[in-house]
Amino acid sequence: MKIDLYERIWLWIATVMIGSFLAAIVLGATMNAVHPPSHVETIDPTTVRTSSEFSRPRVEINDDGSALVVGVAEMFDFEPFLIRVPSLGPITFRLTSPDVIHGFQIVGTNVNLTVTPGYVIETTVTLPKAGEYLIVCNEYCGLSHHQMTARLIVGEGDGP
Ligand code: CUA
Repeated sequence: MKIDLYERIWLWIATVMIGSFLAAIVLGATMNAVHPPSHVETIDPTTVRTSSEFSRPRVEINDDGSALVVGVAEMFDFEPFLIRVPSLGPITFRLTSPDVIHGFQIVGTNVNLTVTPGYVIETTVTLPKAGEYLIVCNEYCGLSHHQMTARLIVGEGDGP
């Protein structure tokens, strides 16, 4: 079969493009730890505030220094607002929303979750360094969306 020269050139260009897209996905996953969410757990959003787990947003510290954060994102606050953990991790976040979709991004890290009503999102991370982190909502959720923030303080020290 004879393929026209230009057609062959474009076939190769398309092949190289597909190959580089696949390489970008593999590199992102292996080098930058970019992963799609894989945790699917449902919850009735109308019962979040009365559920045994989410009626008490909290930070639990285990003996080995690992932490569990049970949080609620609701217009226009995160609870708990101040998350204080003694070590870099592992820190497990379990979050849900009783109203609308919110974001949960720990600025300067690869933690960037979408908190969706009806679902519990969970992730476990080890942070790169001690200090104070800003947490922002990055999904537009209403008039005061831009004020929806929280703080995460990692390590010893009183913090501000
Ligand atoms: Cu919550 Cu934007």
